[in-house]
Amino acid sequence: MINDSRFAFYDLAPGEENFRDAVLCGLDRARKAIPCKFFYDTRGSWLFEEICRLPEYYPTRTEIAILKEYSGDIAARIGPHGRLIEFGSGASQKVRILLRALDRPAAYVPVDISREHLRSAATGLAEDFPSVPVIAVCADYTRPFALPPLPGARGKRVGFFPGSTIGNFEPDAAVAFLANYANVLGPGGEMLIGVDLKKDPEILEAAYNDRAGVTAAFNLNLLERINRELDGDLDIDRFEHVAFYNPAEGRVEIYIRSQAEQFAQIAGKRFRFADGELIHTEYSYKYAAAEFRALAAHAGFRPVDTWTDAGELFSVHYFRLR
Ligand code: AVI
Repeated sequence: MINDSRFAFYDLAPGEENFRDAVLCGLDRARKAIPCKFFYDTRGSWLFEEICRLPEYYPTRTEIAILKEYSGDIAARIGPHGRLIEFGSGASQKVRILLRALDRPAAYVPVDISREHLRSAATGLAEDFPSVPVIAVCADYTRPFALPPLPGARGKRVGFFPGSTIGNFEPDAAVAFLANYANVLGPGGEMLIGVDLKKDPEILEAAYNDRAGVTAAFNLNLLERINRELDGDLDIDRFEHVAFYNPAEGRVEIYIRSQAEQFAQIAGKRFRFADGELIHTEYSYKYAAAEFRALAAHAGFRPVDTWTDAGELFSVHYFRLR
């Protein structure tokens, strides 16, 4: 732990994510799958930042516009001396909009599994907001953990979970994730969360099949990562990106499709891919505002406010724990 009154770094020593086991197990199944959390190696994280700037990928700019437009209302909800706790804080960009609007925030607590990324983002934020104590916590926030002591006991503890990352969990897992967030926040905790809305499937399908091919590169980077890190010999050119909206399930489904029957060696094991066979890589669930409020209620969150853009593309919800 490094600690002065303005910056602290707590390392809860999260276990390494095991890419090798996930790939070997996931490709051995009748329905092949690789969990979407493995998208984010260095190249994948860079490609994701590119996705966020694409004309077709409306979620990032729409959420930022909502946060800016309603930052006064959000700050009023949070009140003075609030402590913001962000799971999966990454580059800590969107929180800056809130920190500029809040009345004397007592702490910003970024929580992330990626130690060096967390350290540099938290240090940069502490430099830019010298009056806000930054308490960085390196932890696997999908598992239970305890927050370190936070300054400003008078203020609220408010979770901040932007980006509709909640949509990448299946609904039961989303409830379990929110219940863990509720436990970490503790009684009286509140939460500000960004959630992508259901909408015209054409808009959704364009957002996940951009014309520049960045989403395809992001998805296929999983295969490149296998070749790089697991001594694989996958022929990437004979696989393609597939993304479509499944209205019955309310989700965009993302796969990698084999364009021929082919074989590959990965970490010393041989795998067969049939012509047309799919490898599932991600779901991105979309929720009507009322649907999401009902889901969050299962984790103990009571709705307080929902803000959306004029085009009803994206929603930002404010909840209070019961
Ligand atoms: C991180 N997550 C919310 C993104 C999404 O829209 O589901 C990941 C993504 N996958 C393809 N494009 C963006």
